[in-house]
Amino acid sequence: APLSVLLLVAAYLIGSLSGSLLLGKLRGVDIRQHGSGNAGGTNAFRTQGLRFALCVVVIDIGKGVLATWLALRFAPVAANWSVTAHGYLAAFAAVLGHVWPIWHGFRGGKGAATLVGGLAVLWPFAVPVLVAVWAVVIVASGYVGLATVIAAVSLPLLAWITDAGMPRLWFSLAAAALIVFTHRGNLARLRAGTESRFARARLLHR
Ligand code: G3P
Repeated sequence: APLSVLLLVAAYLIGSLSGSLLLGKLRGVDIRQHGSGNAGGTNAFRTQGLRFALCVVVIDIGKGVLATWLALRFAPVAANWSVTAHGYLAAFAAVLGHVWPIWHGFRGGKGAATLVGGLAVLWPFAVPVLVAVWAVVIVASGYVGLATVIAAVSLPLLAWITDAGMPRLWFSLAAAALIVFTHRGNLARLRAGTESRFARARLLHR
């Protein structure tokens, strides 16, 4: 049990390393004071450009991969919960770290990239499916936040359709709920008609 707790704490601490806020320190910018105010890849792209944003996304996905991989690698086999369950809990802990990062005053991002990192290790099949859903919604609407919410909600549907076992199904439900929660501001702005939009991605609203 102590090792299980240690792995989850480590996952949270790794998840708390925010790509946009750490790289922003090098540049002397805190992107929480610009654009949407979110410490994530989308707002990095919006306020700092493509190259900065790509580095942010690589870090934020990478830490999800690392935290999850560490848990799978070092989970005590004799533990009550399975090694796989350790992986899912660690992935979730890393996402929590990204959203409420201990190193950055508990004000982080919305968790999408870090979730993708965890999924890349635990359920690689889901990644291209979610990315495809995400890309279609962005191209059709220009709203990244909406695309992320719809992709996240399709995760438990995918788990259900594919007859996923317990840890995967619960993880998918919890992750979708968390992503909807972290995007509550985006959803409110969409309803109010004030959500920012990437105009070049708009196909249906010219
Ligand atoms: O994952 C973040 C993205 O879905 C929305 O980012 O900056 O538009 O709130 P932002």
